[in-house]
Amino acid sequence: MAFVVKKTINEKDYYYLNENKRIDGKVKTKTLAYLGKTKKEAEEKAKEFMEKMEKKKFNEEEKKEEQKKSEKLQTEISVEDLAIFCKRRGFVYQSADIYGGYAGFWDFGHLGVELKNNIKKEWWKFHVWQRKDMKGIDGSIITHPLVWKASGHVDSFSDIFVVCKKCKKPEKIDKKDLGKIRCPKCGGEFDNENAKEFKLMFKTNVGEKDETYLRPETAQLIFTNFKSVYENARMKLPFGIAQVGKAFRNEIAPRDFLFRCREFEQMEMEYFIVPDSKCVYEIPNVEMSVLSAEAQEKNETPMKMKIHEALKKKIIKKDWHAYWLATEFSWFMNLGANPNNFRIRQHRKDELAHYSSDCWDLEYKFPFGWKELEGIADRGNYDLSQHQKFSKKDLSVFDEESKKKILPQVICEPSLGVERAFLVFMFDSYFYDDKRENVVLKLHPKISPIKAAIFPIVKKEEFEKLCENIFEDLKSEWNIVYDESGSIGRRYARNDEIGTPYCITVDEESLKNKDVTIRDRDTKKQIRVKISELKATLKKLINEEIAFEKAGKLVKT
Ligand code: GAP
Repeated sequence: MAFVVKKTINEKDYYYLNENKRIDGKVKTKTLAYLGKTKKEAEEKAKEFMEKMEKKKFNEEEKKEEQKKSEKLQTEISVEDLAIFCKRRGFVYQSADIYGGYAGFWDFGHLGVELKNNIKKEWWKFHVWQRKDMKGIDGSIITHPLVWKASGHVDSFSDIFVVCKKCKKPEKIDKKDLGKIRCPKCGGEFDNENAKEFKLMFKTNVGEKDETYLRPETAQLIFTNFKSVYENARMKLPFGIAQVGKAFRNEIAPRDFLFRCREFEQMEMEYFIVPDSKCVYEIPNVEMSVLSAEAQEKNETPMKMKIHEALKKKIIKKDWHAYWLATEFSWFMNLGANPNNFRIRQHRKDELAHYSSDCWDLEYKFPFGWKELEGIADRGNYDLSQHQKFSKKDLSVFDEESKKKILPQVICEPSLGVERAFLVFMFDSYFYDDKRENVVLKLHPKISPIKAAIFPIVKKEEFEKLCENIFEDLKSEWNIVYDESGSIGRRYARNDEIGTPYCITVDEESLKNKDVTIRDRDTKKQIRVKISELKATLKKLINEEIAFEKAGKLVKT
């Protein structure tokens, strides 16, 4: 137990936070923090320090516990069943459904739009707001056609289109596989003689004559704006530029629900460094399943290892690359994804783009196999030098250390599709509870579409009025709902199924004691909390700053 002590030295008071600990049978006093020179300051600092310690302890210990629990609780479903679930619950609809749909295009419903926005918001917070070395932009979807010439998309952004002789289904394949592989659906032979190159960019017209494209990635807008951001935001290398926005690809075979769409969103960033400089951050030493290019050539399985070990053994060659792989993995883990469904896979030589010296994908175990979730490529200075060449503008910057002008190197380009992240969070949180006989969507509260549902225990004017006041108070902070229809059990089930983490109930006691119950979606435990403290308590719960049992008085159920 920590306590505040005052020490008087040369007639001046100094306050400290001390702790007694029994070490080898003896009680020893350890100073935890210096608290200042006045009692008031000391009390405030001690409170702050203890809260931080409590939070740290909770984050480290209880989060691990929670994670362990959730690993056991995920229910596997097929991508088709997930699509049905998403439609029924208002997450995702086929675009133009009433006209029979339109392949590769999807609309997000009243819950889907909230989940998608929350994913993007959490990505932005983590990658932009919480970093001093990152700035965001929002580039245009249609831009100058030379951008796409310079980037190489006009000449080489294409797939080979073949049709299966047996099942007649079209398939996109890599150029190198032409004549070597068979149809993955039926094993039939492809009509290789009639294979066609298929350009993936959507063409569009601007004005009467100009022809350009809808952007197939957000990245190029980062490169074209690089110098402006560098100068106007007064950045210094190393730094990054992030962007979230729509991208369009005329995919030959859109499939697997949201996995391969023709219109989708990307969350991308380019990280610029002085060429070949060392990583300036501590690399989070996470454990991951690692599949190197060499292991693939030897037909070996992935190995579980700490990222520091992978770097030491030179499986991952560059420290910056290890840093971003670990950071991107951590983003998913912080939002409750299941680590067992993730691995990193290095691109084989025959997969690497000509400008890229190394590329790793963060892969996810989808029900249809291990697939790319996020590409994390080392792009060198290819893009900046191409744009420099085509625009005839100097994109180099002054390096203080070498006192020379240099063209920065893009050591990492983490590029993640919002729809693929959406699928990951849905798959990892989908759980059918046999006892409750309903789905419990165990989404992390930070990304849950609805943060809390408010119910009167029964329909009664006083209860409804109190619910209304609570709704008014909470609505400025979060998306919340009021629900009075059906039995309380039915209302809990409805909210479990759409991932609402907390249900707030107003009952007889609420009128007397000015408090409510909060029910935790995953454990069904309930606590009583004063209405005056409800907003602050919910905030702590959503941000994982307190364990549910400690957030109020536990109710015996
Ligand atoms: N700027 C780099 C780039 O665009 P990419 O590997 O082509 O690289 C990056 O795409 C990410 O965008 C992928 O890892 C995936 O998450 C997402 N993505 C790509 N094509 C997609 C599609 N057709 N549908 C949904 N997401 C897609």
